[in-house]
Amino acid sequence: MKLDLKTKTIGNAYLWMEEIDSTNEELKRQAAAGAVHGTVLAAGYQTNGKGRRGRTWDSPKGDNIYLSILLRPDLQPAEASMLTLIGALAVADSIKETTGADCQIKWPNDLVLAGKKVCGILTEMSTGADGIQYVIVGIGINVNRSIFPEDIAHMASSIEKGQGREAIIASLLFHFEEKYDKFLKYKNLAPFVEEYNERLAGIGRQVQILSGGEGVIRTSHGIDEGGALIVTDEEGKEEKIISGEVSVRGLYGYV
Ligand code: BTN
Repeated sequence: MKLDLKTKTIGNAYLWMEEIDSTNEELKRQAAAGAVHGTVLAAGYQTNGKGRRGRTWDSPKGDNIYLSILLRPDLQPAEASMLTLIGALAVADSIKETTGADCQIKWPNDLVLAGKKVCGILTEMSTGADGIQYVIVGIGINVNRSIFPEDIAHMASSIEKGQGREAIIASLLFHFEEKYDKFLKYKNLAPFVEEYNERLAGIGRQVQILSGGEGVIRTSHGIDEGGALIVTDEEGKEEKIISGEVSVRGLYGYV
């Protein structure tokens, strides 16, 4: 698959595989074998696509995007977790640019259109005695897709094909690199808080914070520069929710 890339580094090494178990897993293997910073691996379909929290990512053939980016950043592991939010912003920009659609972000990193998820991001990291060895940002975008497995059909959706898969990938890598370079200067999300909160689903409203089955209702006020979600309880007391095992839902459904 030929890309019209407008990046400096990200995607200079670009690998396309029609079939793979998981682009994240294959890129981990390539990273262990010495693949360079900025290597991008995309696939036509995945036989064992991975989602967050041990879930699977249904990855059939079609126009969907399954793509992983290998980074070798000079960051602390805690800082690298913010790259997922950078990825979400880059995907949102590329969808806007190539299809015209304005996605919302469901904190921390699901992209939603009309209340349904169209993209998920799985960031994985390998660390050693000297800190981070590599980070892989894996991005799955449903493109032109109408059939979903029964368990996710109520909350999954798809973007339009727009200018096509290659154009979406090229735009995504361009926006990712632009934001990544800026992020490395700050090592926090300060320059992105405003644009992120403009896209944040549920901001200014009540949301459910779910942790291991237990749910509490809080008002969402958007992210801080570390990527935590700032919420207040009914007495106005502020809390910061850190991404991890917690999930945030709307009061009446997924968003
Ligand atoms: C989520 O659970 O929302 C994250 C889904 C991430 C899916 C992408 S598809 C490309 C990359 N390879 C994988 O196996 N997973 C990620």
